[in-house]
Amino acid sequence: MSEPEQDLDIAIGHYAELLASNLHAQRAAHFPPDAKKVMRSLTSGEAAELLGVDHTYLRKLHREGKIADVETTAGSHRRYTLDDVWEIRHALEANAKKPGTYVPGRRAGDELQIVSVVNFKGGSGKTTTSAHLAQRLALKGYRVLAIDLDPQASLSALHGIQPELDLMEGGTLYDAVRYDEPVPISDVIRKTYIRGLDLIPGNLELMEFEHETPAAIQRGGARAFFARVRDALDSVEADYDVVVIDCPPQLGFLTMSALSASSGVLVTVHPQMLDLMSMSQFLRMTADLLGVIRDAGANLRFDWLRFLPTRYKVGDAPQTEVIAFIRGLFGRSVLTNHMVESTAISDAGLTKQTLYEAEKKDFTRQTFDRAIDSMNAVNDEIAAIIQNTWAKNGGRNGKKT
Ligand SMILES: Nc1ncnc2c1ncn2[C@@H]1O[C@H](COP(=O)(O)OP(=O)(O)OP(=O)(O)O)[C@@H](O)[C@H]1O
Ligand SMILES: [Mg+2]
Repeated sequence: MSEPEQDLDIAIGHYAELLASNLHAQRAAHFPPDAKKVMRSLTSGEAAELLGVDHTYLRKLHREGKIADVETTAGSHRRYTLDDVWEIRHALEANAKKPGTYVPGRRAGDELQIVSVVNFKGGSGKTTTSAHLAQRLALKGYRVLAIDLDPQASLSALHGIQPELDLMEGGTLYDAVRYDEPVPISDVIRKTYIRGLDLIPGNLELMEFEHETPAAIQRGGARAFFARVRDALDSVEADYDVVVIDCPPQLGFLTMSALSASSGVLVTVHPQMLDLMSMSQFLRMTADLLGVIRDAGANLRFDWLRFLPTRYKVGDAPQTEVIAFIRGLFGRSVLTNHMVESTAISDAGLTKQTLYEAEKKDFTRQTFDRAIDSMNAVNDEIAAIIQNTWAKNGGRNGKKT
């Protein structure tokens, strides 16, 4: 049987419409258009962990009236909103002997950290890594801006922003980096339901940058494009400690511009031989392309580059070997911790949640604990690298503590 006579654009358009309208209907059923995502409240154990204090100490602070009390449940357990945690953190910091004990962000002399999460292997865990890193840093008291640089907009979707519904026109980083009439980046930054975390969503419009850049290069040279992400960030740089950029699975002009803005680079690696081969090509191509823009005058100084093994199946012999292999080659550039493969992560993703938003009670305890322990270990290791960078480069050395 032959296919109906039809042009390809019309056929694909038909499937696009069918799928889009169905997805809209599904979302309307599960997530009404005016519904906003909210962050659940936290137990005292969770709040204490985020604040970096023992929960008995937290209880004592409440009892002695040193910090404001919070809501209690019917079973008289305290529940903390993120605003509560934020306020307690700042109250503790105000009385701390050593600055930065409770509020860990930049201090005088520390530079904004811009962290790009890259690899052109699709599904290597870039978005999962970006979302959990950005959220964990915000929960820990950093001021974070997450940027969704992927036209597929998975990071935005995870944060309750459905590209087709919520961003019909504009609203992505493209508006701030476009060549004609760019808007200030603050126009496209949105607050999220997580205190301390702002987001620039993505959608298909980001592709425009890929289409317009060749002509811009012809007019003004490579210099025209590679500085655009960094330049756009300049006007808000004082508002944040860390920017996390979730890159698309390709090496386009946007990814190159994000990389040239970056002080830190995280390459996610799914520990399988085929993925390593694809990563090898990715690294070669990236090096070549970055070389071209360095020759055109880009400043490519950066602070750190790390490989993060993702979706590691605990106990899987071939994967364990692959991790040992890249550790042998790259040494300390591979993070000590890795992100385990877990149904807690994929299931939470299905309901557009990260592990930090999900309710522990929806999973078996061991599954959840193992996943969140691995995620925290990875994110806290990255936070420590950021702290070290500040300690090394910033004004901290000269500062009495
Ligand atoms: N540690 C994990 N355990 C289980 N599932 C995971 C884990 N990390 C990611 N996933 C799942 O794998 C899929 C791909 O992950 P993710 O979207 O983070 O990859 P990506 O590199 O951003 O992909 P793309 O290149 O398409 O942007 C998602 O469905 C995600 O839920
Ligand atoms: Mg992604």
